[in-house]
Amino acid sequence: CLLLLFDILSYLIVFTLLFFLFKVDGIVLNTGRDVTLNLLESKSNCISILTGPISYRYRVSQLKIHFGTLDSSGSEHTISGQYFTAEVHILAYNSDLYNNFTHAIHSPHGLATVAIFATIGDKPNNEFEVLSKEFQNILFKGQERNISEILLADLLPQTERYMTYEGSLTQPGCQETVTWILLNKPLYVTKEQ
Ligand SMILES: *[C@@H]1O[C@H](CO)[C@@H](O)[C@H](O)[C@H]1NC(C)=O
Ligand SMILES: *[C@@H]1O[C@H](CO)[C@@H](O)[C@H](O)[C@H]1NC(C)=O
Repeated sequence: CLLLLFDILSYLIVFTLLFFLFKVDGIVLNTGRDVTLNLLESKSNCISILTGPISYRYRVSQLKIHFGTLDSSGSEHTISGQYFTAEVHILAYNSDLYNNFTHAIHSPHGLATVAIFATIGDKPNNEFEVLSKEFQNILFKGQERNISEILLADLLPQTERYMTYEGSLTQPGCQETVTWILLNKPLYVTKEQ
C-alpha cells in the first residue's frame, strides 16, 4: 500500500512524493445524497493515510462529493459560518485493526476522513473535471460508472495544515468512530465544473 503522510517533515519522504504519480480505479455511484467513488480493492489500488493525530494506518476506500444546488451551500461543514460550493471527503478505514470498511464503520477508531472544501476559482481542476464529466452519466440515484486512473493527489490542496477532531459521519448511521482531518486550504474548481 502507498503510504500518504500529512506531517510537514514526512512530506519530504519518497512515499508521499510517489502519491503525486499514483492513480486509482473505481466505480462512481449516485447514492441520491452524494456522488461516491468506491475504489477497487486491489494491491495496486491501495493508499494508506498516516498523520500526526492518527496512530493507525487507514486505507482509503471511498471518496464522497457533496454538492449544493446553490454555489454557496454545498459543504457539510462551515468555517466561520461560511459554506463552500462542495465538500470532498476521502474516507479511509483502520486497516491495522479491521479487515474491511464495513467492519470498521461500526467499530472504535474505525474510520478517518479527510475533508477538502471546494470553492469557485478561475482555473479548472483536472481530476475534478474527469469526475464531473462522469456525473452527467449518473444523473439518477443508483446509476454507476467505472472510472479509471484518477489522480487523487490532484484533489488535495497543497497544504500541511489541518484541523482534526474525533466525531461521527455526516451520513445516516452517524457512528462515533471517525477521526476527521479538515484541510485548511480549499480546492479551486470552476463554476462549470
Ligand atoms: C469484513 O470483515 C468481517 C470481520 O472480519 C467479516 O466477518 C466480513 O465477512 C467481512 N466482509 C466482507 C465484505 O469482506
Ligand atoms: C465495471 O467493470 C466491471 C469489470 O471490471 C464490469 O463487470 C462491470 O459491469 C462494469 N460496470 C459498469 C457500470 O460499467
